[in-house]
Amino acid sequence: MPVSPILERQTTYPFVRLNDAARRVEARGIEVIDFGMGDPREPTDPLIRQALVDGLRERMGYPAAVGLPELRQAIAAWAQRRFRATLDPETDVIPTLGSKEAIFSFALAVVDADGTRDTVAYTDPGYPVYERGALFAHARPLALPLREEHGFLPDLNAIDDETWARLAIFWVNYPNNPTCATAPLSFYERLAGLAREHGFVIASDEAYTELWFGQPPASALQLVDRSNVVVFNTLSKRSSMTGYRSGFAAGDPTLIAALKAFRPTVGTAPQEFVQRAAVAAWGDEAHVGETRARYGRKRALLLDLFERKGIRVAGSEATMYLWLEVPPGETSEAFAERLLEHGILVTPGSYLGSAGEGYFRVALVPSEAECAQAVRILERAL
Ligand SMILES: Cc1ncc(COP(=O)(O)O)c(C=O)c1O
Repeated sequence: MPVSPILERQTTYPFVRLNDAARRVEARGIEVIDFGMGDPREPTDPLIRQALVDGLRERMGYPAAVGLPELRQAIAAWAQRRFRATLDPETDVIPTLGSKEAIFSFALAVVDADGTRDTVAYTDPGYPVYERGALFAHARPLALPLREEHGFLPDLNAIDDETWARLAIFWVNYPNNPTCATAPLSFYERLAGLAREHGFVIASDEAYTELWFGQPPASALQLVDRSNVVVFNTLSKRSSMTGYRSGFAAGDPTLIAALKAFRPTVGTAPQEFVQRAAVAAWGDEAHVGETRARYGRKRALLLDLFERKGIRVAGSEATMYLWLEVPPGETSEAFAERLLEHGILVTPGSYLGSAGEGYFRVALVPSEAECAQAVRILERAL
């Protein structure tokens, strides 16, 4: 039976491997506290749940890929309040089904694999979907390492002119998963200048802009000139709505027009009742403040422990993760296996890209009580 060779070459999705390891340990009677995948386990705010229920109708027809005008307006109003970015809800915004599907398929809408624009750049370690989307679009993937000495920003000086000329998409993701680093607006300004000069698209995955602990992070939406720029954001982390699947793409109207042409075929028009819940979610900041405070408390608990145990914290400015250095002499996978024997599941940095070796990631998703329990366990284990 024919199966895509791209699919056959693909390694198992990192979190499938991680969950399998956890199940094996649990089968031996060890209780596992799961700091692996970044799936918030907090309840979604009642205001949002009610909006979803109120959005149910006796009959619901096919939703349109362009989304409800009310949702596009709510997103534009949020971007104005949060980033002072003016978006035209008619031309600059399109809702998505969460952001993963839109990130995966974006290369299909942009890359000319048989032409001169065949390359998709993304950062390593990172979210695996940029590379996978590039491969399925038959693009040439280009992993750019994120090094601590560069503040976990890609080294733009290391890219040669031939590569710039072949580049179709440059994926950036700040606040970054997994290094938790943030990017200053000047980074977006420099990259946007290069994008205009060389004619590539900046795709800025901003899933974590709302999970911060010091200053609110910048967005590529703040650029004065948003030519060649598209931003993806989502309610998954901001509003603990991973199960709803609701996000948006916004930016250069030419790119949004391309998505409006592409997406009706893909079948990813968001359900109308979810869009109604999303209008409520983008319109409310109180629940986001509470979410940040909760992550902040869990973060403080674990940071205190790791610091006392001499485990060095790298990056870790924002997001729902901590990015920490593996003790000398151990691989990230061996270290994660050692912690798993004590019932603590973390992600080895190497699972998130080869430049992730030497680090491990802690997703602050267990409850505060579970985090306190994990601190007691790690107090003995480390
Ligand atoms: C960096 C990054 N981008 C995008 C996503 C996708 O989130 P969603 O599809 O739930 O919006 C995630 C999810 O973990 C992520 O870590």
